[in-house]
Amino acid sequence: MATSAPKFPLEIELSVNQRPFALTVDGCDSLLDVLRERLGFTGTKKGCDSGSCGACTVLLDGRRINACLTLAGAAAGRAVTTIEGLSAGDRLHPLQEAFIAHDALQCGFCTPGQIVSGVGLLAERRPLDVPSVREWYEREPLPLRGHTPTSPMAIIEAGR
Ligand code: FES
Repeated sequence: MATSAPKFPLEIELSVNQRPFALTVDGCDSLLDVLRERLGFTGTKKGCDSGSCGACTVLLDGRRINACLTLAGAAAGRAVTTIEGLSAGDRLHPLQEAFIAHDALQCGFCTPGQIVSGVGLLAERRPLDVPSVREWYEREPLPLRGHTPTSPMAIIEAGR
C-alpha cells in the first residue's frame, strides 16, 4: 500500500524538554530554527548550519542528531532534549558538572552541543576510554569539531 507524502504546512505536536508544543511548520523548516526562533530554546547553537560542526546537537527520542539537518516535521510526535532540558532546576547534569571540573568549556559557543552529544554517548553505553570517546566524538555519527582535550575526560567521569 502506497503512503502519501505529508502536505505542508504541517501541524505537528512534539515534546521539548518534556513540555508539549503544537505548531505549524513548513517543509523546509529545520528543527534547529524551530527550536531557536519559534520555541525559544536558544541554548542550541547554529554554527555551520550544514552538519559539519555539531553545535546544534540535540537528542531526538534519546539519540544524537544534528538539528540543522533535521526537518521540524520529522520531530512530530517525538521527544526532543536540548541543553536546557538537562539540568533539574538549579542542579546541573553530571556531565555539565564534569565539563566545569575539567575546564572543557572553551569559548562556550559549542559547549551545549558538546554536552548534549556527550549525554547521548553515555546513553549508548559504550566502553569509556579517552581514545574511544575522542573517536566517537569526532567521527560517528555526528562530527563534533573543536572539542577540548579534556572533553573526553569529562564524559568518562560523568559516565562512572
Ligand atoms: S550547525 Fe548543525 S552541524 Fe553545525
